[in-house]
Amino acid sequence: MSISQIARTIGESVTLKLNEKAAILRAKGDPVIHLGGGEPKSKAPVDAIVAAAALLNSGEVRYTPADGTPAMKAAIIRYTEEFYGRKVTPEEVMASSGAKQAIMVALQAVLNPQEEVIFPAPYWVSYPDMARLCGAVPVPAPPEDGTFYPRIQDITERVGSYTKAVIINSPNNPSGAMYSVDFIRDVVEFCESEGLYLIMDDIYHRLIFDGRKPINCYDYAKDLSDKSKLIVVNGVSKQYAMTGFRIGWAVANPELIEIMANIQSHQTSGPAGVLQHAAVAAINGVQSSVDNLRVQLENNRNVLVEQLKGFDGVRVTVPDGTFYCFCDFSYYDKDSTKLSNFLLDKVQVVTVPGIEFGMEGYLRLSYCGSIKDINEGIERIKWALDPNSPNELYIGDRKLIRDWN
Ligand SMILES: Cc1ncc(COP(=O)(O)O)c(C=O)c1O
Repeated sequence: MSISQIARTIGESVTLKLNEKAAILRAKGDPVIHLGGGEPKSKAPVDAIVAAAALLNSGEVRYTPADGTPAMKAAIIRYTEEFYGRKVTPEEVMASSGAKQAIMVALQAVLNPQEEVIFPAPYWVSYPDMARLCGAVPVPAPPEDGTFYPRIQDITERVGSYTKAVIINSPNNPSGAMYSVDFIRDVVEFCESEGLYLIMDDIYHRLIFDGRKPINCYDYAKDLSDKSKLIVVNGVSKQYAMTGFRIGWAVANPELIEIMANIQSHQTSGPAGVLQHAAVAAINGVQSSVDNLRVQLENNRNVLVEQLKGFDGVRVTVPDGTFYCFCDFSYYDKDSTKLSNFLLDKVQVVTVPGIEFGMEGYLRLSYCGSIKDINEGIERIKWALDPNSPNELYIGDRKLIRDWN
């Protein structure tokens, strides 16, 4: 089949594929434990549901402006003022169908073919393919010191004449690492001085633990004029448990927002009105669901980390936020795809191979499910990997026989 050169470089989203695989196995009656998920299990805020239902009931569900409804823009402006202490105008904000689209449209607005975009590794699975979709070149930057915490040198030493943009995601999917204030300050200052676009993917910025406070990139930006190349992305998916609503946004200089909105207008038009209505209600409504989610995730993290402590071969870096823990399983198998498939086949536990995030030998374990799933999932993984495990394991009334070493 004759397809485009760009299409040839694009792979399937592995995380979405795993969700599908888990759903198929569950539908067959397999007792799958999903430690690979990327969405909180709590319900969307009541305010959001009521608002969406009211608009649906009105029957007045129409096209929306390409860059978001006035009410959505007002909610983004309010959010930016509340969480970043920055007053922006409607011309500086754009709503998208998810933070994913906001990032994609930003990259399409700034990248030429062959130009490079740098991001620390491990990285969110979509960044490399998003760059490739623009005909551009992804440049992962694994921290030289072997941690999940980049230093500015890790970025600067990869900058060349083709570099156009940097993407920073902190707290980070998949590591849960919240980068240091020094790093955020350095990267903001560096991108400003070099004239590089800086995309701050802040989608997890309120899901942080141990009393941490979100780091605000604007605190370190000297140029917040219409020439600023700082793009801040956020959305309702994670913090409000509204992944299926597909609403995210970008805040950037007015000229760039206009260009991004033009691109979006030809791709998908404005995000769905019902869903923007729900997002507005979530942002403007009672915020207790975000706090409850954060507390629950912190508790889940503690349970997972405690469980992993009893696992001799696994190296764990305690996550500072998000709902992911990126663990070094290379003692058991250096091939993370093989290991992840093995765990799914033998004990029906879904994990995501580290290679998809740019680090081989690791598995990403999610703790956004129930404590029961975390405990049972880790127990099954231990049973499968520890050669000293008993020969049999019961999952409900199913008996598994350990016929491997
Ligand atoms: C780092 C990161 N950025 C962006 C997104 C996309 O979020 P949305 O659901 O708003 O498109 C995700 C979702 O998994 C993510 O992990």
